[in-house]
This record gives sequence, structure tokens and C-alpha cells, in this order.
Amino acid sequence: MMHLGWFVGRGFSVHGWKQDWWGDEALDWTNPDIYVALAQALDRACFDYMMIEDGSLVPDAYEGSSRAYLQHAVTVPKADPMPLVPLLGQATKGLGIIATMTTAFYPPYLGARLAATLDHLTRGRAGINLVTAHNDRAAQNFGLDRHHEHDKRYEMASEWIEVVDKLWASWQPGAIRADRGAGVFADNSKVRPIDHEGAHYRCRGPLNLPAGPQGRPVVCQAGGSPAGRSFAARHADTIIALVRDVGEAKAYRSDITAKLAEWGRQPDSCKVLFCISVVLGETVAEAAERKRRRQVALATDLEPRLAALSFFGARDLSSSNSNWLFGCISLTV
Ligand SMILES: Cc1cc2nc3c(=O)[nH]c(=O)nc-3n(C[C@H](O)[C@H](O)[C@H](O)COP(=O)(O)O)c2cc1C
Repeated sequence: MMHLGWFVGRGFSVHGWKQDWWGDEALDWTNPDIYVALAQALDRACFDYMMIEDGSLVPDAYEGSSRAYLQHAVTVPKADPMPLVPLLGQATKGLGIIATMTTAFYPPYLGARLAATLDHLTRGRAGINLVTAHNDRAAQNFGLDRHHEHDKRYEMASEWIEVVDKLWASWQPGAIRADRGAGVFADNSKVRPIDHEGAHYRCRGPLNLPAGPQGRPVVCQAGGSPAGRSFAARHADTIIALVRDVGEAKAYRSDITAKLAEWGRQPDSCKVLFCISVVLGETVAEAAERKRRRQVALATDLEPRLAALSFFGARDLSSSNSNWLFGCISLTV
């Protein structure tokens, strides 16, 4: 069976504000209507889910300043996607709504509680895209001087989801009796502390609400490194991956299948979706012409792209003319 997801790659943010057809977006970018319309279209088209990107910082990787990011609306402003989830759930019937949650910055209790609440509000259609975040500037918004080292972030994330899983399971089935005759709403014997004491987290529990209809909301992941893929293979229900061609996609899927087996999971227990960017036209020629015009527009408006690359690559490209720079541009244009 084919599975389809839509990745809202800029998150709850400003999208095409320089383009004529975006109307008032520049002034009204927090208006949720466009996300609702998108979700409804995806619902009609029987997509499995919509996944909304997120991050919690104003970058300054380019020129050591936030100037370019703010001037071009690159990764900022960005609103929290979580409150969009029930709005989109309310406006759709079958679409899964996945929003990004950073394991490094969300205390597991709050993460478990929020995801369970969203699962109730969407009647069992919520998911969380678990990321570890990669930027020191983001870490500094949460009390750290520097972010933890890459693989340690995944080690922590693994314990994080372990705690969250325990919290979601801390209300046993049938815990809510709502028995007016007996005067019992919930059965104390079926709501138990988790008493988690690990290397990175301590949490008593139980959660102060039962898990939602799914029990465990869908867990999405997008790790590319061995540690990221291993984390995904252990904990995720779906992965979205960036690859350049069919060969890379096959290799990625084989690697995940092998890693799933290492964790005692079946290949089909995790759906791997590969990102593509589609240009539409009435004819192939029209689509090709649109793609050409888009590439020209991108090439003549380079600073936003360099600022974005500086952020993702954690390397200031404002003055560099290295081969590395050209390598990056040819990969991403
Ligand atoms: C399609 C896709 C979506 C992603 N969405 C986010 C996101 O919303 N927030 C974020 O901080 N990182 C996001 N990432 C980054 C990944 O979580 C991950 O850190 C990255 O792919 C590098 O892999 P690694 O962490 O295993 O090194 C995304 C990556 C991909 C490929």
C-alpha cells in the first residue's frame, strides 16, 4: 500500500511572502486558515498525515547576526505548531496531524501530557515528530551553554521516549469507571506511578490523564545519522527521509529494515516516506518551465538560501567561496 505525507517544511511560519499569489501572508502569517485549507485538501486526497516542522530560536549563524534571518523571514518568525493540531483535527476526518517536539527541551512529563491531550482532542489522529535539535542557540534558550554532543542527544532522546511511553501506559485500560452508582470515577489500583530513575531523567508519574485513543500517539522521526536511524528504528512508527535518488532510497530502507530487526521489530512496523518536491503544470513542458523559473528566482535571491545553509550546516557562509559552499548549493537548489 502506498503511504503519503505532506511535510510543512517551514513550520507554522512565513512561507511565500515575496510572491504575488500569497496575498496578505506577510501581514497575516499567523492566520491558521491556510493550514486548515491544506489539511482539508490532504484529507480529501487520502493522505496519511501532515507533518509540521519546528524549531525554537532566532538563528545568527550567517554573519554572526540575526539580520538576514529576520530580513528574509528565514526560519523566523515561527509559531508553536502544537496549537494548530486540534484546529486541523477539527477540520478534517481521517488525516493524521503530526507536529514537531524537541526531546532535548521538552520535559518528558510535559511532552507526554501534551501529546496525550492532542490525541484526545483529535480523536486519535495526533502524532509527534521527535527531533533532538542541533543548534547551540536553541540550547541557550533552555538554560544550556552548548547543546549536548550529537550521539548523546539520541541517547537522551531514547530515555526520554522510554519515560514518555511509561507515562502513556500509567493508566491501565478500564482505569476510568465513571460509575455514578458506586461513586467511583477512576480506579486508583489502575493508575500507578512509574518511578523512573534513569541516567538523564527522573519522573514519578503517573500522568494526570489517561492516554488518548491511540494509546501511543504516532511517533515520527527524521534522523539521518547512524544514531538517528537507530533511534528511529527503535521508537518510530514512521520516518521521513531526504535522499537524492532511488538508489539512496533503497539503501536507506534496507538500513532501517536491518535496524528494525536489531530491535526485534517487523519491517512493516515503521513506514519510511521519502521527501520529494513536486512542480505541477498542465503539461510536462509547463511544469519544466515553472521549475526553470523557480530555479532562476532562487539563484537571484541567494542570501536567504545562504543564511539557511549557514544555519543547517552550522557554518557561516557569508564570506566563504569554498568548494564546500558550491557543493551545498548544487545539492539544495
Ligand atoms: C524531512 C525532515 C524534517 C525534519 N524536521 C525537523 C524539525 O522540524 N525540527 C528539527 O529540529 N529538525 C528537523 N529535521 C532534522 C532531523 O531531525 C535530523 O536531526 C537530521 O535529519 C539529521 O540527522 P541526525 O540528527 O541523525 O544527524 C528534519 C529532517 C528531515 C530530513
